Amino acid sequence: MAKLVAYYSRADENYFGGQLRYIEVGNTEKAAKMIAEQTGADLFKIEQKTPYAKDYNTCIAQAKKDLQAKARPELVNLPENLDKYDEIYLGYPNYWGTMPMAVYTFLEHFDFSGKKIHPFCTHEGSRLSRTEQDIKNVTRNATVKRGLAIHGSSVDGARAAIKKWIVA
Ligand SMILES: Cc1cc2nc3c(=O)[nH]c(=O)nc-3n(C[C@H](O)[C@H](O)[C@H](O)COP(=O)(O)O)c2cc1C
Repeated sequence: MAKLVAYYSRADENYFGGQLRYIEVGNTEKAAKMIAEQTGADLFKIEQKTPYAKDYNTCIAQAKKDLQAKARPELVNLPENLDKYDEIYLGYPNYWGTMPMAVYTFLEHFDFSGKKIHPFCTHEGSRLSRTEQDIKNVTRNATVKRGLAIHGSSVDGARAAIKKWIVA
């Protein structure tokens, strides 16, 4: 059986060490690529059709509105099915204590019965918040393993922590 790293990540403007700046590759995407390198997993990026704004403050407001509305943003594309994968590394930034709503769109589309899900979350202080439970709530009959919290601004130094988590 094969492994998949499915992740959501946003580049553009974000906070780094108390300062806003634009980045080309999102933090979760960097972590996703490290995991794929270390496990040989395929990569799939969860992308919403209408992306959030590039500027941070507008993005924050849009994401909050979607959370409050329990929105399920439409995705650019989805894998046909996940049949060949028995282990899924699911990556996302912490958005308001949970996952971006587009990750819910992805999770609700498939039947994860019998699959193992390994959550990894990049954040600026809230760590995983309640996301392990959020994933359990929408993927009945899957096994949700212990998640990995990665401080977003320090993702470049996360390789060793990722390695340890993968083998654990
Ligand atoms: C809309 C939005 C909401 C966020 N909410 C939280 C939060 O509640 N707690 C937290 O620790 N970080 C929060 N963050 C920070 C992100 O989780 C963090 O910067 C993450 O590494 C971004 O990942 P990305 O570059 O892959 O998109 C938020 C960021 C955004 C844009």
